[in-house]
Amino acid sequence: MYVCLCKGITDTQIRTAVSDGASSLREVRAALGVASQCGKCGLLARQIVRDALGET
Ligand code: FES
Repeated sequence: MYVCLCKGITDTQIRTAVSDGASSLREVRAALGVASQCGKCGLLARQIVRDALGET
């Protein structure tokens, strides 16, 4: 599903970025640009990053 509409980024892309080595929302943002415009997706994006890291 789409997490970030501004950038057209899906939860799958976020999980892939984590498995490629990103270990925080900040790093996923640097890699994908998620949550870099309106910021509304930030909370959900952070939850997905935490889930992908096994921290939920
Ligand atoms: Fe992600 Fe706007 S929906 S920055």
